[in-house]
Amino acid sequence: MQTQVLKADSKENIRLAADLIRRGETVAFPTETVYGLGADATDKAAVAKIFTAKGRPTFDPIIVHVASIAMLPTVVNGIPEVAWQLIDTFWPGPLTLVLAKAGKIPDIVTAGLPTVAVRMPQNEIALALIEEAGIPIGAPSANSFGRPSPTCADHVIEDLDGKIALILDGGTTQIGVESTVLDLTCSPPAILRPGGVSRECLEGILGKVSVFSGTGDEVFKSPGQMKQHYAPRAKVLLFGGKCRERVIAAMRERIKELKPGSEIGVMVPEEELSHFTDEDVVAIGLGSFTTMEAVASKLFEAMRALDKRGVDYILTLALSREGIGLAVFDRLFKASGSQLIEVD
Ligand code: TXA
Ligand code: MG
Repeated sequence: MQTQVLKADSKENIRLAADLIRRGETVAFPTETVYGLGADATDKAAVAKIFTAKGRPTFDPIIVHVASIAMLPTVVNGIPEVAWQLIDTFWPGPLTLVLAKAGKIPDIVTAGLPTVAVRMPQNEIALALIEEAGIPIGAPSANSFGRPSPTCADHVIEDLDGKIALILDGGTTQIGVESTVLDLTCSPPAILRPGGVSRECLEGILGKVSVFSGTGDEVFKSPGQMKQHYAPRAKVLLFGGKCRERVIAAMRERIKELKPGSEIGVMVPEEELSHFTDEDVVAIGLGSFTTMEAVASKLFEAMRALDKRGVDYILTLALSREGIGLAVFDRLFKASGSQLIEVD
């Protein structure tokens, strides 16, 4: 299959993409978090094409995207009061709600679960596409299964060229990590995947929530939350500990041990880059650790860039788990195969 790439800057291109979706094809499009690979969420044959293109196992359910509240009855069966509060506060935005599924959503979308994950993205192109298609769009991240999520059209091309009908190029995504997945079918509500809306913001409305991911002591409740995920090809070594100086020293020590015979990549906040300039390593800055938003927005791009440089190992640092920091830690922890190297 020939994959077309179109700039998402004209109504005509959006219309073309929406036509493809309506005809049961797959289209990659930007959201505020990462690029999604979309298909008509009510058409099981169309959704099956997403799983094939990504090489995604069918036990991993996908998120349904809506452009308006009017689309919700097609997707969910009833909306509890607490969901309305969250919708009012965070939609459009990076919050996915797990609710009871409506009959029009085929089982392939939810991997046979009685629940469905739904969100309204905060991105003009995504909203225009869904609106123009006139149907909810099922869309996981537009990467090959297990690879870091794509934050620009080039990343989608790297993974899916020749496997999907169209890529709508809307530039680089703003947030850079995926949405928060919040299960509202249990009590207290549970964060199945930390993301763009922080645990603190949710607790401001909900009171206590349980967190099943990003804690470093994971219970995998969401089918897609496997131990190794978001992983570059290189082996990720995640270092953490209370004393930053000792953690950096341990990283430098490990580099010396690994260096003979391997290429080493390092991914740290700008402030720590100077510790790795004298080594023969590929060091990438993640933005300042004082702004975890900046780190989040560069995370997946940095993993892909280091893979392209052909490194065997990526050494990286666990940072603050507050706010969006929890999502950053979660992605790094999973990329490391759930192994945190604690330095006392
Ligand atoms: O920001 C995002 O969420 C991006 C953009 C494209 O919207 N999408 C995304 O989709 O990250 P995906 O498929 O890569 O991740 C969806 C996550 C998976 O961990 C999946 O297991 C979980 O949501 N999920 C989907 N439906 C679920 C359900 N019914 N119950 C529990 N977890 C569910
Ligand atoms: Mg994904």
